[in-house]
Order: sequence, then structure tokens, then C-alpha cells
Amino acid sequence: MQELLKQIQDHKTEIEAFTAIDEKAAEEFRIKWLGTKGLVKTIMGEMKNVPNEKKKEFGQILNEFKQFTEAKYEELKQSTVNGQQSTASNIDLTLPGDNIPVGTRHPISLMTNRIISIFQRLGFAVAEGPEIEDDWHNFTALNLPEHHPARDMQDTFYVQQNPDWLLRTHTSNIQIREMQKGKLPIRIICPGRVYRNETVSARSHCFFHQVEGLYIDENVSFADLKQTLYFFAKEMYGSDVKIRFRPSYFPFTEPSAEMDISCMLCKGAGCNVCKKTGWLEILGSGMVHPNVLSNCGIDPNKYTGFAFGMGIERPALLKYGINDIRLFSENDVRFLKQFMNYY
Ligand code: PHE
Repeated sequence: MQELLKQIQDHKTEIEAFTAIDEKAAEEFRIKWLGTKGLVKTIMGEMKNVPNEKKKEFGQILNEFKQFTEAKYEELKQSTVNGQQSTASNIDLTLPGDNIPVGTRHPISLMTNRIISIFQRLGFAVAEGPEIEDDWHNFTALNLPEHHPARDMQDTFYVQQNPDWLLRTHTSNIQIREMQKGKLPIRIICPGRVYRNETVSARSHCFFHQVEGLYIDENVSFADLKQTLYFFAKEMYGSDVKIRFRPSYFPFTEPSAEMDISCMLCKGAGCNVCKKTGWLEILGSGMVHPNVLSNCGIDPNKYTGFAFGMGIERPALLKYGINDIRLFSENDVRFLKQFMNYY
């Protein structure tokens, strides 16, 4: 009898240690232990050799062994549903989840999106265009013919393979392309990256970003330009901001004006950022030159319009308190992740 007890104990140890990686292995377990010729049956068959006075005691032991084996089989079946071993019973659902790092928006994108959303509320649509442009869309159509001295205002990168191609120096090329489509009225803003051959320093870079705008319809006047940009400045820099226009020159607008806002850091008192003037220069603007309209097939006697353009880097430097423009393009995550909670 001792031998039978030992056998049962050995079987239990083997069963306990058994694991099944799939349903097939669980089925093999069933056949080996619980099948019609299985080991459980064989062990049960030993009952007949047990002396009568021990039958009750052994009956219990054998029954318990059978139940133990059946329970193990149930467990194997459960854990291999769908042909895969489930680790469900090993997972602690109360553990906190893994921290998945979330990306952040680039400060230039944040600033661009802010500007876009203000103009969108005034009914401006976003338009985009190519960064590699031909001379005509970047210069000539904008009333800047070849050899015009004003081309010097924007030092240009040309593409070696084709002297007619260049990296756009402003996003005004998009405005030309929109005007050529001939669908009027036009009310667009044009965000994008632009390139100029300038020495890279803390204050300037060989590429930067702009948002330009264009509004063309019948009877658009300088008063519309002023109101639009005034609304923009108040939304962007706060309702107590003051604006002023200074006469300026751009070949594609006439008259032209640059717009300043009162320095938001010193509130006009004069500080290092505004170079003690109390004013910050933020954009160029003007009424679209009649030559530009006719270059694009629009009748300047019927339509008028205004345009403006501003850089994104400078306001972003001011808003986020950054002192080096190069940080924007170095892609250092230690810099970029600081804008996690900005919008
Ligand atoms: N295109 C000009 C620039 O890049 C900005 C501008 C746009 C000025 C429209 C006036 C009107 O400097």
C-alpha cells in the first residue's frame, strides 16, 4: 500500500509541474491522465487490491487524486483558449500603467497655430505653397523684376541645377499662386518656412518662418488693413496693446507700412528688448500694388487688396522668453519638452 501512496504522490508532483503552451498540449494531458486508458483509471483500478478495512481510507485518497487531476485539466483548458497561452492569472491589474511619453508641439508650431486661429476667426483660410520656387513667383510677379535693387533686401539661395529655381525668401509666392487661380474674393493666410542667405547667429538664421496674409475684393481699403491688424494685435498681445504704423517700402505694396506694437515687457517705458524705444516691430504690410494684381490676371481697376507678412521666430522668442534663435532648429528634446503645457 505504501507503494501505491508513493505512486500517487509522484503523479501529483508531475501533474502539478505540467504546463501547456496550446490546446493540443492540454488535450495530450487529458489523454494521458483522464482518457479511457489513462493513468487515473489505472490507479483507480488498484482499489481491488486494497484490503477491505483500508478501502474507505484509500477510496478518499484516490477520489481526491482524480479530482485534483480533473481540476488541473480544467485550468489548462482555460489558459489555452484561442490556441494561446494566457498569462491572465499572472497579471496584477492594480499595478499603475507604464508611463507612455507624449510628444510636444514645437514652439514655432504653437506660435503659428495661434496666429492662424486669430485670422481664421476673421474668415481667412490657410493656403500653402512650395518652398522651392521659380524666380517669377518669388520675385518678378511681385513687382521685383530682375536687377531690381529691392531684391537685395532678401539675400537668396539659388538652386544649382537650375538658375531659375530658388528657395523662397517669403511666403508671398503662395499669394501669387492663389491670385493666379482667379477665384475672387481672396482671403488667405500663408504660413511656412522661408530661406535667406544670412549669417547664423543668436538673432538671425538662414531659415525662419512667416505668416503672410492677403485680402482681395472690391473696395478693400487701408482702413480694412488697419482694423484687421489692430484686431490681430489685440488678440495676440492683449487688449491694452497700442499699435502704430510707420511708412515703409515694399515693391509689392503701395502704400506700404510697418506696424509696431507697444513693448509688452516694459509697457512702452523702454527696455533692452525694445532697445529703449517702447515699440516692437512686428510686421510689414500695405495695399497690393496694381502691377502685382495685373501680373496675376486680376483687374486693378475693379479690385483692391491688402497684404501683410510677419516672422514667427521673433514673437516666439519674446513670448517664451528664449534668447537664442538657433535653439528652434537644434531639436534638443531638453529644450523642446519645456513647451509641454503651452498652447
Ligand atoms: N514679403 C515681405 C517680407 O518677407 C513681408 C510683406 C508681406 C510686406 C506683405 C508687405 C506686404 O519681408
